[in-house]
Amino acid sequence: MNRFRVSRFIFHNIMRVLYAILTSSYYYLRPYSAVKHLLLHYDQGFGFDLCKDLTNMSEDDLKRYCQTLYSKETFRNIAFGWRHYPSIMMQADILYLLVRHMRPDNVVEVGVGAGASSVMVLEALSDNEHGHLYSVDLWDANIPNKGILVPSRLRKRWNLIIGSAEECLQGLLDKLGQIDIFIHDGGHTYESMTFQFETAWSHIKRRGILLSHDIYSNSAFFDFLKKRNLSPSVYGGLGGIKKR
Ligand SMILES: C[S@@+](CC[C@H](N)C(=O)[O-])C[C@H]1O[C@@H](n2cnc3c(N)ncnc32)[C@H](O)[C@@H]1O
Repeated sequence: MNRFRVSRFIFHNIMRVLYAILTSSYYYLRPYSAVKHLLLHYDQGFGFDLCKDLTNMSEDDLKRYCQTLYSKETFRNIAFGWRHYPSIMMQADILYLLVRHMRPDNVVEVGVGAGASSVMVLEALSDNEHGHLYSVDLWDANIPNKGILVPSRLRKRWNLIIGSAEECLQGLLDKLGQIDIFIHDGGHTYESMTFQFETAWSHIKRRGILLSHDIYSNSAFFDFLKKRNLSPSVYGGLGGIKKR
C-alpha cells in the first residue's frame, strides 16, 4: 500500500468510529448543537420530532426505546457497517421507535435491499411480541441476498415477497385488509411512488401511517399530499403522514 492509501484507510476508519459513536448515542448528545451541526442530516431533531408528530410518543417513551435500541447488535451492525456493507444508518432507526410505540398488527414495506429498514421493524415487533412485517422486493440476480441484515431469530414475523410492487402490492393488501404502517423505499419513479401511495392509503387504518423514503426523488410524495390536502412530517429524506 502506498502512503496515500494508508492515510485514506486511517482517515476513513477514524471517521467511521466517530460516526458510529455519534449515531449510537445521539439521543443523549442531541442537546449539544455542535453535534447537531456535525450530523447535518440529523438536524431536524434527530428524527424524534417526526416520531412525536406522527404518534403521541413522550420524551420518556423515546428515551426508553432508544436505550433498548442502542443496546442491540442489529442496530450496531447498521450504524458501524456490517461486513462489506458500509454504515447505512439512514433513517431506519426511526422505524424501530415508531413500531415500538404504535404496536402495529401489520406493517408493509416496499424495498428491502440489505434489510436495514426490515431489521429495525422486526426488532421492534419482536420486542412488542406482536405483529408481522410483509416486505416486497424485486428479484435481482446481482443482489440475491435481499434482507441479509435480518438474523434468523427475527424471521418468524417476516414474509419476504419477491416481485415488483406493481405486481404484488394490491394482492397483498387485499389479503391483509387493513394495515397500520406502509413504508415506501423501493421503486423511486414518479409512477411507482404514486401507484404505491394510492394503493396503500386506502388500506391504512385510522391513526395508521404512511412513510416514504427519498421523498425528494421527484414530486410524487408532495403531489399525493396536495391532492388530499395532507401535511407531512419530514426528517431528512423521510416523510410521514398520519391518517386521521
Ligand atoms: C434503497 S433499496 C431499499 C433499502 C432498504 N429499505 C434498507 O433500509 O436497507 C431499494 C430496493 O427497492 C427495490 N425496488 C426497486 N423498484 C422496485 C419495485 N418496483 N418494486 C419492488 N421493489 C423495488 C430494489 O430492488 C432495492 O432492493
